[in-house]
Amino acid sequence: MELIINSPLDMHLHLRDADMLNKVAPLSSHSFAGAIIMPNLAPPITSLQALKEYKKRVQESIADDRFEPLMTLFFRNDYDFAFLQEAKRHISAIKLYPTGITTNSEGGVKSMDIEDLRQTFEAMSELGIPLLVHGETNGFVMDREKEFGSVYEQFAKNFPKLKIVMEHITTKHSVDLLDRYENLYATITLHHLHITLDDVAGGMLNPHLFCKPIAKRPQDKEALLRVALSANPKVMFGSDSAPHPRDKKESCGCAAGVFTAPIALQALAALFEKHGVLQNLQPFVSDNARAIYYFEPIKKEVILEKKPFFVPSSYRGVVPMFANSTLDWSIKNIT
Ligand code: NCD
Ligand code: ZN
Repeated sequence: MELIINSPLDMHLHLRDADMLNKVAPLSSHSFAGAIIMPNLAPPITSLQALKEYKKRVQESIADDRFEPLMTLFFRNDYDFAFLQEAKRHISAIKLYPTGITTNSEGGVKSMDIEDLRQTFEAMSELGIPLLVHGETNGFVMDREKEFGSVYEQFAKNFPKLKIVMEHITTKHSVDLLDRYENLYATITLHHLHITLDDVAGGMLNPHLFCKPIAKRPQDKEALLRVALSANPKVMFGSDSAPHPRDKKESCGCAAGVFTAPIALQALAALFEKHGVLQNLQPFVSDNARAIYYFEPIKKEVILEKKPFFVPSSYRGVVPMFANSTLDWSIKNIT
């Protein structure tokens, strides 16, 4: 059995910089036609000069692969219209992190009060720049995303022209918000379609599945599966593939992030086939994103086939999800 995916897109990807960038970027550019590149470097990407230089380093790291890095700026509430008008030519979106909520987010936003954010939000609305949000409070870890729901509602109600993407949603509550606000969209990761908190901490602790937001309850996973497998047009695949060196994961003070880029398409094909909806993978990994971002990706055909694929124990020192196990689907060819 084979499945052709046209121009798969990863709408939430961490590529890092320097050595790590050179190690992981080719693993995405090989099989994806493009990706939203998250700006949480240290220091974060907040100027056009830093953005252009980073984009150049990304392009150098992927050599001749046909892959479009869709660049993002790290949100600041003092970006003004003139700056964003110039930025729009170089970016696909702006990513908002609450301060200190995840890897390299110390320079994030302190106040979610819409008056403090108005200047940038209004300019983004006018210019049609999507707002991508890491939606967690600093409350109890299992409630953080749900508590952030009221912030999403405030944003959506007060800025109806602003396209807001709830990044890497993990709860039924977030899924339900999609139906309530026309301007709310979401990315969903591979790992949150597979795991619950039990897989992270219910038995022996699995640091390679520890990420932000933490995986939640079975009913949350079911809600995510429902919208992803039905290719609801408001959801897109965003791997949130977040590589950390093995010693930063297998350590006291484990870094948050699951590394899925090189195995994502194979694992998604297996998941969609298991649920009898292989035809919905194309909209989930490409078409929905094109429609939401008004964007035509580079042409790239990925042929997947139902043939065992053994996932290695690491890719250049970074441990992937499903390491040392066999997936039912592999990549046959890419043209
Ligand atoms: C991400 C990272 O390591 O950059 N980590 C994660 O657990 N997902 C940041 C993020 O998206 O929260
Ligand atoms: Zn992320």
